[in-house]
Amino acid sequence: SVKGIILAGGSGSRLWPLSRQQLPKQFLKLSGAASMLSATIGRLSPLVAKDDVWVVTGESHATGEAFSELEGLNQIMEPCGRNTAPAIAVAAALMQDLSGDDPIMVVLPADHIVADKDAFQACLNKAVEVAQGDRLVTFGIVPTQPETGFGYIQAEASGQGDIQNVLRFVEKPDLENAQRMLDDGNYYWNSGMFVWKASVILEEVEKYIPEMTALLNGMRARWNGGELWQEVVRDSFDKMPDVSIDYGIMEKSQRVSLVPADIGWSDVGSWDAVHEIAEHDVNGNDISGNVLAIDCHNTLLRSERSLIAAIGIEDIIAVETPDAILLCRAGESQRVREIVDSLKLGK
Ligand code: GDD
Ligand code: MG
Repeated sequence: SVKGIILAGGSGSRLWPLSRQQLPKQFLKLSGAASMLSATIGRLSPLVAKDDVWVVTGESHATGEAFSELEGLNQIMEPCGRNTAPAIAVAAALMQDLSGDDPIMVVLPADHIVADKDAFQACLNKAVEVAQGDRLVTFGIVPTQPETGFGYIQAEASGQGDIQNVLRFVEKPDLENAQRMLDDGNYYWNSGMFVWKASVILEEVEKYIPEMTALLNGMRARWNGGELWQEVVRDSFDKMPDVSIDYGIMEKSQRVSLVPADIGWSDVGSWDAVHEIAEHDVNGNDISGNVLAIDCHNTLLRSERSLIAAIGIEDIIAVETPDAILLCRAGESQRVREIVDSLKLGK
């Protein structure tokens, strides 16, 4: 069988003030009427039915608007964030034990945009096929700039075409190395979407993060011995090491394959990225909500409540919410993280 595992535990702080601790990016409606989470689940149909989709998320998200987005979905609730490797490992063990077989897992971040659903599904079918042969399969995106927030995947130069062997996986390089890999031409961005058999990812976890396997085996013994798995997760999860699947497994594994994915992908990690994918008026403005713009060029103006009235401005991002307003020069929105950091410190 095929199971969808949706990772929805992150905080997406660069889209402040719209994304908040209580309502991170995956629960927002950034493009169109559906939240990013429900769009992600919709994209899996018909290969994976909603009943076979599991959302892995944090207890702190189970309130308010986020709670209603999660209603009616299979959920694995983490009592605390331990990054993506433990989230995926627990899901793998649980999928095996609940189904009694060895399902293929399609692991998707809940907070990305994929514009071309048909192309995505074609890639997905290919990936599932490759995963049957005991490989870890990633979706590779052709890079367009030396982005340092992504993982880079070096494909085997000879392996032209549909499926390529992976030589090297480099998570979040510095700018110099990112530029080098961009110039090289044989690197893809890691999209953060993965397909593999539960047994295969668990073998890799055992090989590269053995202390996680020890914990996991303890948890499995308890839930297979009759304890509620939800309770077991709640009281054991905090002992998991804090590590991402990218650093913990993907950089080390020798059995990674890549499906090149031209699917209109964006991780919409910043307001500039939102601006890039949004629909623009003839002057390049992306305007939504309560906004009046006269003679403006290349702006993103977004208001939830108060009227934003703008005249003659250019290259500006303005986002209004009931309790905060962001003003930012276009091109600098990566730095919104600095605002969130200083707010956390109470500055
Ligand atoms: N359940 C759960 N628990 N989900 C989590 C946790 C957690 O502790 N931490 C992060 N997530 C979710 C996020 O909500 C997101 O959907 C996904 O896992 C990836 O986490 P990010 O924190 O957004 O990772 P990243 O953007 O720094 O890097 C990853 O994605 C890039 C592409 O967007 C890596 O896979 C990179 O290699 C990749 O290029
Ligand atoms: Mg991300």
